[in-house]
Amino acid sequence: QVFDCTLVKLAKNHSDRGNITAVTQEKQVPFSIERVYYLYDVPGGEARGGHAHRNLQQLVVAASGSFDLIIDDGCVRRTFHLSRPYVGVYLPSGIWREIDNFSSGSICLVLASLPYDERDYIRDYNEFVQWKL
Ligand code: TYD
Repeated sequence: QVFDCTLVKLAKNHSDRGNITAVTQEKQVPFSIERVYYLYDVPGGEARGGHAHRNLQQLVVAASGSFDLIIDDGCVRRTFHLSRPYVGVYLPSGIWREIDNFSSGSICLVLASLPYDERDYIRDYNEFVQWKL
């Protein structure tokens, strides 16, 4: 459910030479990290996502810039504005998500619990709502 999607505050290792943030599987995220991908060069006004996953769990981070992450469990909808590289949102399975309002040059970093598998996707919102019942 939407309320199982939690903000994850990651440690920022600050120095005069720049900052480092680390994510360790089973520590800051409750899964083993099988895949990492990132969205970049998203044209202004474009939206991504628009699907749910049957099994996949993810951590979404604005590694650079900012965007809005809209999450929906078929009942409740909520928007997170992500703009800090040390704050992520944990998405359990079974959550519809959309990402929009990308700032120019932003990078949406995603840590995922499973390899890419198209069969894990639900890309139709009505089908998602039915599946949630
Ligand atoms: P998708 O997850 O459908 O992104 P969006 O819903 O924002 O359009 O990914 C778009 C395409 O990228 C997908 O059809 C196949 C490819 N892709 C991979 O090959 N591997 C991956 O890990 C991901 C996330 C996507």
